[in-house]
Amino acid sequence: MKNFAINVAKQAGKEIEKRFNNDRIVKVKDKSQIVTQGDLIADRIISSALKKRFPNHKILSEESGLKKEKSDYLWAVDPIDGTTNYWIGSPLFAVSISLFFKKNPVLAVVYAPAMNELYFAEKGKGAFLNGKKINVSGNTRLDRSFLTFCHGSSQKDVKRAMKIYTKIKFQSLDSRQLGSASMELGFVAAGRTECIMIPGAHVWDVGAGILLVREAGGKASDFRGKEWNFDSRDMVASNGKIHNQLIKFLEKI
Ligand code: IPD
Ligand code: CA
Repeated sequence: MKNFAINVAKQAGKEIEKRFNNDRIVKVKDKSQIVTQGDLIADRIISSALKKRFPNHKILSEESGLKKEKSDYLWAVDPIDGTTNYWIGSPLFAVSISLFFKKNPVLAVVYAPAMNELYFAEKGKGAFLNGKKINVSGNTRLDRSFLTFCHGSSQKDVKRAMKIYTKIKFQSLDSRQLGSASMELGFVAAGRTECIMIPGAHVWDVGAGILLVREAGGKASDFRGKEWNFDSRDMVASNGKIHNQLIKFLEKI
């Protein structure tokens, strides 16, 4: 399964990379969310490979919805996480693929072709960036931490994210929105940043990244501190050391 998932992510990633800076917008959904040709091509590559190899597994893809099956296995797929970055020429976008067993993430691949970064994790076996083991940072101080945030597509989630930003900006070393949830989770796993917060997170955006963070020694929960699960809406993932400070902050939002 490991090699299969990595190969499919790479295959889709290479196709996207070919179109990077030379793609077209196919449609605009939910006001500000664009879909490019690259999103659809990557979706086709991943979905057809999964259907062929695991015909009985469920598949949940941002671009093609849910393939229902009677199975404990579900693949959560974001063909391009960070489409707006991809469209404006920023390399911070990735193919994100995760496998859930009974609603728990057990395998994760996040592949960022334009950054030449491939993150991989398997439950109980650690997290890796380009084959090297990664760990979350050892930082214990919120006021010395770098934080990022994203938001779901509803107006309510955007407003909540803005509220988080205006407050946390002054309590951290710096905070910013990078535009690719899966990569931002990868950054936490690799110890580059200390945390990412997302009001209204989608499973396909965060499934893989959450396993990366957990396997790198970090923590992922909802905004009340309950371990993140498939049905959680909000998500905060951190190096674990500043998690309680973050929950105390988020409880007031
Ligand atoms: C988006 C990115 C972004 C987050 C949005 C997601 P997409 O993914 O992860 O950072 O703020 O909620 O939808 O739409 O580019 O796959
Ligand atoms: Ca996407």
